[in-house]
Amino acid sequence: MKFPDGFLWGGAVAANQCEGAYNEDGKGLSTQDVTPRGIKGPVTKEPTSDNMKLVGIDFYHRYKEDIKLFAEMGFKVFRTSIAWSRIFPNGDEKEPNEKGLQFYDDLFDELLKYGIEPLVTISHYETPLNLSVQYDGWINRDMISFYERYVRTIFKRFGGKVKYWLTFNEINSVLHEPFLSGGIYTDKSRLKKRDLYQAIHHELVASALATKIGHEMMPGCKIGCMILSMPIYALTSNPDDVIAAMKSDHMNTFFGDMHVRGQYPGYMKRYFRENNIQIQMEDGDEELLRDHTVDFVSFSYYMSICEAADRSVAQAGEGNLMGGVTNPYLKQSEWGWAIDPQGLRYVLNQFYDRWQKPLFIVENGLGAIDELVTQPDGTKTVLDDYRINYLRDHLIQVGEAIEDGVPVMGYTSWGCIDLVSASTAELKKRYGFIYVDRNDDGTGTLKRYKKKSFDWYKNVIESNGENL
Ligand code: BG6
Repeated sequence: MKFPDGFLWGGAVAANQCEGAYNEDGKGLSTQDVTPRGIKGPVTKEPTSDNMKLVGIDFYHRYKEDIKLFAEMGFKVFRTSIAWSRIFPNGDEKEPNEKGLQFYDDLFDELLKYGIEPLVTISHYETPLNLSVQYDGWINRDMISFYERYVRTIFKRFGGKVKYWLTFNEINSVLHEPFLSGGIYTDKSRLKKRDLYQAIHHELVASALATKIGHEMMPGCKIGCMILSMPIYALTSNPDDVIAAMKSDHMNTFFGDMHVRGQYPGYMKRYFRENNIQIQMEDGDEELLRDHTVDFVSFSYYMSICEAADRSVAQAGEGNLMGGVTNPYLKQSEWGWAIDPQGLRYVLNQFYDRWQKPLFIVENGLGAIDELVTQPDGTKTVLDDYRINYLRDHLIQVGEAIEDGVPVMGYTSWGCIDLVSASTAELKKRYGFIYVDRNDDGTGTLKRYKKKSFDWYKNVIESNGENL
C-alpha cells in the first residue's frame, strides 16, 4: 500500500459527544442537551441527568491530556466541531460569548503545538435550542443570517489557526433526522415534505455562503461539504431493483451535486414536480449556489445497504440513520451495521467519478463493546483485535481506491477516543483507540487507557500506511 506523501492521518470527534460542560462558561442549551436517548429518542423539556452528553468524556477539561495522546499516535489532523451554543448561546444574539471563543482558541493552540492540523465542523448535529424551539430550525430562512453571523465570528477568530472547514456534518441526514440534523422542532410525523426541502434549501444556501465568506476572509483555506455515505446496492439484478437503488441513491448524491455542481439536478426537479414541492428562492440564491462550490468533498463511511423495489422481500436493514434491506453477503457489527470494506473503495470511486474533487474520509470505525483487562505488568488495556481488523480491512480498500486514481486527502477515524454515541447516546458503543472509564449509569473515573489499537494505529501513521 502506498499512501500519498502528506496524507492527513488522524481522528475525529464532535463537540456534543465528548466535551460535556454543557452549561459552563456561558454555553447555552443545544438540541443535544435535551435528547438523552440519542437521535431516535424523545426530546425532553430540560436537560436530564441521564443524558450522558452533559458530561461526555469531559473533553472540555481534559483536552490537553487527550491531545497529548493523539500526538503520541502521530496524528497529522484532528477533526472536531465547534458547539454553536458556546459561541452564540441562544443563536440569535448579536455579540458572541468570549469564553466560548477562548476555549476553542486554547484547543486549537494545543493541537498546533504538536503540529496537528485542526479540521473543524461548523455544525455537527447541534443547534442552539432557542433556534430550534423559537424558529423551527432550518425551516426558517432567518437561520441563514444566524449561521452567517456565527461563521463570520469563528472565521475571524480562528482563520489564522484553522485551514480545513466542513459546513454541516452529514448534511443529507436531515432527510431522516430533521430535529438533530436540522434543528427542526416540528415533529417528524407532522413535517411536510415541502417544509423539509425548504429547510434543506436554506442549509444549502448557508453552506454556499459560508464557502464564499471563508474564501474571502481566509485565502488559502479549504472548505468542504460533509456527506453521510452509504453505497446502495440493488438487492438483485432485476432492473426494478436497480432503479429503486438508483432512486434511493439520488436522495444522497443530491447533496453532493448541489455542493459541487451548484445547481438542482434534473432528478430532484422531477421529484419536486411529482411531489408538488415549490422551493421558495430569493434573488441571489441560485448565483450563490452556482458560484461558491466546495474545495473538497468529505464523508463518513460505516456501511452499505441494499435496496429493492419491493422491500417486503427482504429483512429491513438496520443502519446509520437511513434504512434499506439487509445484504445477505455481509456480516454485521454488534449494532447491526453491515461491515463492508469494499464499499469504501466503491464509494471513493463513485464520488470521484461524479465530482472530480479531492475526497476526505472524515469518519470510519467500529462501534463495539470493549472490555478493560489487566495485563501481567498491572497496566490496563483493551485487546481490540476486532477493531484493528475492521480498520485494516477498510484502509486496504482506501489504498485500492488510491491505486484506482482517486485523490484521497486524508482519513480521520471516528471516535478516536471513546465518546457518547450519536444514535443511541450510549458510551458502551465504543470506537476509540483510547478507552475512557465511564459507564452508561454515570459511574467511572474518566481515566484514559490505551487500547491495543493505539499502538497499531501509531504504526500505521508512522509508516504512512505501509504497515497495516
Ligand atoms: C455519524 C455521525 O453518523 O456516525 C457521528 O456523524 C456518529 O456523530 C457516528 O457518532 C457513529 O454513529 P453512532 O450512532 O455509533 O455514534
